[in-house]
Amino acid sequence: MKKLLAWLLICLPFISNAQSQEPDPEKEKKMQWFKDAKLGIFIHWGIYAVNGIDESWSFFNGYISHEDYLKQLDGFTAENYNPASWAELIGQSGAKYAVITSKHHDGVALWETKLGNLNVVENTPAKRDLIAPFVKALRKEKLKVGLYYSLPDWSFENYPQFTRNKKRYENDPARWNKFLDYYHGQLKELTTNFKPDLMWFDGDWEHGAEAWKAKETRELLLSAQPNVIINSRLRGYGDYATPEQGVPVTRPESKYWELCMTMNDSWGYQHNDNNYKTPNQIIRIFIDCIAMGGNLLLDIGPKADGSIPEEQVTILRELGRWTRKHQEAIYGTKAGLPPGHFFGPTTLSKDLQTLYLFVEHKPNGPILIKGLKNKINRIRIVGNGTKLSHKIVGKQYWSSVPGLLYIDIPEDQLDEQVTVIALQLKGKVDLYREDGQVIESN
Ligand code: GLC
Repeated sequence: MKKLLAWLLICLPFISNAQSQEPDPEKEKKMQWFKDAKLGIFIHWGIYAVNGIDESWSFFNGYISHEDYLKQLDGFTAENYNPASWAELIGQSGAKYAVITSKHHDGVALWETKLGNLNVVENTPAKRDLIAPFVKALRKEKLKVGLYYSLPDWSFENYPQFTRNKKRYENDPARWNKFLDYYHGQLKELTTNFKPDLMWFDGDWEHGAEAWKAKETRELLLSAQPNVIINSRLRGYGDYATPEQGVPVTRPESKYWELCMTMNDSWGYQHNDNNYKTPNQIIRIFIDCIAMGGNLLLDIGPKADGSIPEEQVTILRELGRWTRKHQEAIYGTKAGLPPGHFFGPTTLSKDLQTLYLFVEHKPNGPILIKGLKNKINRIRIVGNGTKLSHKIVGKQYWSSVPGLLYIDIPEDQLDEQVTVIALQLKGKVDLYREDGQVIESN
């Protein structure tokens, strides 16, 4: 008996740990569309586009007074807002979902909320619900609907934090409860009105899970929308990790993750910010994400009149050309090979029988794959079908180390951004991962 107890004490942590690592079929089912989607478009649209200044942070950090910040309400016209063409452009970029700011930290709601007193219907010349027609347009394009919602509301009378240096109150549970009712009320409106597929929270760092009532928030959303996916910024009550701006270097531990990233250096529209990444850089960041099993949520910042800046449209169109041509290597694929086999990102088809290699540069000689045990059925260039031959070099009959696989890519077949090569394998991908074979042991 004593022995059994001791055994249990030693082994229990491992057993329970093993259980928590076990696949959760319910969650996997819910997350499937997200896992397959790979690309989403983030939209930061708000009154900050009027002056072209930082969303919310500009008054929070004291670069402009709250009063002057709110004067931007008068310039938010949305007069050229065309939700159908937004959705079409997003669909053509190759994105499968969009996430729009329903309310940023500044508290200005873009939908017709009955709660609080700051929204674009009553307080701006836009005078209408801007979320409703966009949700409709996204659905028409068969795109999934994501809503960004900031937990902090720095303009709301019962939210404690006003600016970085100014608090409205401290330790006043009655006022905090009023805030909780307000934010839960707004979330109920968003879920009933728009039935989002994804809720994207932000700003959870200002309070703990208990103060936000994060658990209740999750339950509230799930009871209205059982399959809604929630990002990580809900103090541990989300479904996937949300790295921001920095591309992970090693594969993130979380099974589900999404890098959110700006096209220039701003989330919202800022006419002075021309520091756009090139389509080539964006495509390469994108494949870096999908090769590590993640998604990219690429941000655009429409102008106050509702038009999308030309530079952003150009990037989305080039992204669209590239994603359309290479769709089989993108959507529904799995993370690719671990480092060491190929110097570049890779993905694998769901059945693990096709390996996609992303060739980012003009190769100065054949490309090389190491440690691939499979026989190759066919090698072709994705998007144009060109068949390629290969050579296996250095295979020793006495060694189990696979030979070096060289593939020549004709220069006139290269894509102007990134070329994709498909290796149709005999059977599921099978990699050599040992230390190499030392002669003495044979
Ligand atoms: C940051 C900022 C916010 C931006 C968000 C997008 O957390 O607070 O301004 O909306 O990142 O990920």
